[in-house]
Amino acid sequence: MHIHKYEKIWLVFGIGCLFVFLTIIGVSAFAKGNQPPSCLTTIDPEKVDQTPPFNKPGLVKTGDNEYQLNIVASAFAFTPAQVEIPKGAKVTINITTKDVIHGFEVAGTNINMMVEPGYVNSFTKTFDKTGEYTIVCNEYCGAGHHMMTGRIKVVDKQ
Ligand code: CUA
Repeated sequence: MHIHKYEKIWLVFGIGCLFVFLTIIGVSAFAKGNQPPSCLTTIDPEKVDQTPPFNKPGLVKTGDNEYQLNIVASAFAFTPAQVEIPKGAKVTINITTKDVIHGFEVAGTNINMMVEPGYVNSFTKTFDKTGEYTIVCNEYCGAGHHMMTGRIKVVDKQ
């Protein structure tokens, strides 16, 4: 069987690429421990109100200047809708939803999570600047989607 020279080059290039990509994925997954985000913690979406920590949504102090912020999203609100965070605090935000897919974006920051029923999504951030941040739902979730907002106030420590 005769294979044209250009076809050979192309075949070698294609197979080479395949090995390079598989190696990159393999190293990042098995050696570096990379995993797809946010699909690790599951929750029964019908029992969010009874499942800690979402049975008591809000800010919880977990250490020296460290906090956990547990938020429940539902059509069409975040609970709690207003949070005060001391400046410089390292906050791990945990969020889940009781009904449909919502978004959790804190405008002006790099916090942007998808909130899916059955899953808990988390993000850790240190709030270094005082000010007010608007939380928006950026996934269309129904008739009240455009009204689904919240607020984070970063305040000076007393
Ligand atoms: Cu919730 Cu859009």
